[in-house]
Amino acid sequence: MATGTSATDARREAPIGVFDSGLGGLSVLRELARRLPEERFLYVADSAHCPYGSKTAAEIVARACALTDFLLARGAKLIVVACNTATIAAVEYLRASYSVSFVGMEPAVKPAVAATRTGVVGVLATAATLAGDKLQRLIERHADSVRVLTQPAPGLPERVEAGELDTPQTRRLVERYTAPLLAAGADVIVLGSTHYPFLAPLIRSVVGPGVRLLDTGEAVARRVAAVLEQEDLRNREGRGGIEFFTSGPVAHLETIGSRLWGAPIAGSALPASAKL
Ligand code: DGL
Repeated sequence: MATGTSATDARREAPIGVFDSGLGGLSVLRELARRLPEERFLYVADSAHCPYGSKTAAEIVARACALTDFLLARGAKLIVVACNTATIAAVEYLRASYSVSFVGMEPAVKPAVAATRTGVVGVLATAATLAGDKLQRLIERHADSVRVLTQPAPGLPERVEAGELDTPQTRRLVERYTAPLLAAGADVIVLGSTHYPFLAPLIRSVVGPGVRLLDTGEAVARRVAAVLEQEDLRNREGRGGIEFFTSGPVAHLETIGSRLWGAPIAGSALPASAKL
């Protein structure tokens, strides 16, 4: 540590860790980088293990711990679980097991209930997110007299990982998953996976302009800023910067990831210990 630099200064300059089952969390990272441009970020795409949506809670917890260990070894001062599925399955375990703070995703049920005019809200999410009682409790807490319909949407994260944001196959899946919500009169659809915001233009073209789509990226970035303030960890003078890692092929992260990110990404492979 340089002379005159306190331990707290060094801690403030440490990066924020962000992970997802794959590239979906880039939709959250975008909001984080926008709100906190002075901060450094480490992003991990667990693409070798995507999708999490069809895994058991125990499998997801194991992956979340491996990625957390990697991010902490790289000095992360706070970790963002940029994945609804991993948040539902693992965030309580992570909080009980590590001393660093975790910020997770929460599907935008509350703002959706406030926004609906028809009194019907749809929630698209992975099977694993819908399996636990956590989302159900969130719905019970906020629904009031609004009907909140949940719809599993398997296959969509894989289409995003493949960069197929507007292929006939992706469109067919979106049509299949949104049809029951539209038939029930939903005028707000919650994007309950961080992969889905990349499909928002396609979903919009399927559901039409009368249906609002809500995701949680911006709210999570606000929450991260607030936690950094509370913990006196906010870096106000840094120059920013993002390092990208993947458990899958680096070429996949660099090609598809760059397309989703909207700028070239240089990626690195996770060490073997974090890949298994
Ligand atoms: N990105 C993950 C989420 O937010 C889901 C994708 C997956 O099934 O791995 O839930």
